[in-house]
Amino acid sequence: MTNKMIPLRIAGVGYCVPETIITNDDLTKLYDTSDEWIYTRTGIRERRVVSGEENAVDLGFKAAQNAIAKAKVKPEEIDLIIAASSAPVDLYPAMACHIQARLGIKNIPAFDVTAACSGLIYTLEMARAFIGSGIYKTILIVATDNNSRLCDWNDRGTSILFGDGAGSMVVTQSDDGIDDILAIDIRADGSIGEYIKLPLTGQNCPLVEPCTEKPVHISMNGKEVYKFVVKIIPQYIDKCLEDAGMKAEDIDYLIPHQANQRIIEAIQQRLGYSDEKVISNIKYYGNTSAASVPIALAEGVESGKVKLPSTAILCGFGAGMTWGVAIVRLREGIC
Ligand code: UT7
Repeated sequence: MTNKMIPLRIAGVGYCVPETIITNDDLTKLYDTSDEWIYTRTGIRERRVVSGEENAVDLGFKAAQNAIAKAKVKPEEIDLIIAASSAPVDLYPAMACHIQARLGIKNIPAFDVTAACSGLIYTLEMARAFIGSGIYKTILIVATDNNSRLCDWNDRGTSILFGDGAGSMVVTQSDDGIDDILAIDIRADGSIGEYIKLPLTGQNCPLVEPCTEKPVHISMNGKEVYKFVVKIIPQYIDKCLEDAGMKAEDIDYLIPHQANQRIIEAIQQRLGYSDEKVISNIKYYGNTSAASVPIALAEGVESGKVKLPSTAILCGFGAGMTWGVAIVRLREGIC
């Protein structure tokens, strides 16, 4: 018996961002900050945010429609929906179930994964396991977040960073025997989970002693996250390159999670890549959590910076702490 996995094809990638733009200058109306401080520390100049009743389901649905169109699959061919969201609209129904209903696909499994900004890499690895084992043939991944609704807009250290958006990927069984995943690795370290937190609120049964109420806001120890990430991500990129039997110079692009331009540049320097090889759109979108990698990928192709066919290192990191790296093949026509 052989345990060879069925190869996976990345068939389509799509994205969607809300229309409303909040600039760094706009934020000076909320607290003592400046465009200069935010831009030099993070590389962010503006971010998109949801407005009114708009939410991560709306963004995720549109991103999914775009990815499905690019993949040239019919919604009814999808066997499974996995949503990666760290700011879901509801804890339940799952985001994946909301998106399933909008797409009008009945009688397939749909569930969410909470891996914060590593969500795209986590769900890609799960999709690889389902496709590789032959359980499902066509999987829709939707990475969508509206962190702007969960930020503490009095906390200038954290709320400057986040923006809203969604990215989506359709992955299928590869029909030509070529696997689009050259290497992938996902990891977590729950012992440092306090670095980034978003508690749920709630109270004990009134017949027992009450518990402490927690504010429902994102809190982050930015310095510790920064130090952790610039150490761990290059290590796992090296590991994935080794697993793929490749060297950094064999890969065309680095498409990293967009959390801080200084983190992106630290990874870039380690890889010895020129600016042309590194995809960064943090200036316009901030950190869109799980959505940031697929947005950067799809937008990079749209703008002509990412040429197809090519190969790319994707990497994500965030609350958990979670992290993940994937080395992928990007075929013509995926976005
Ligand atoms: O996807 C999730 C992953 N998250 C990340 O990757 C975040 C990684 N970390 C970071 O990006 C950085 O830590 C931040 C950009 C969040 C913060 O930069 P920092 O250099 O670590 O600043 P700091 O928090 O140490 O603050 C330095 C100073 C403080 O003043 P004092 O105490 O030195 O007087 C802050 O009060 O800067 C002050 N400060 C600000 N000043 C103006 C903090 N936020 C602001 C602000 N405007 N928005």
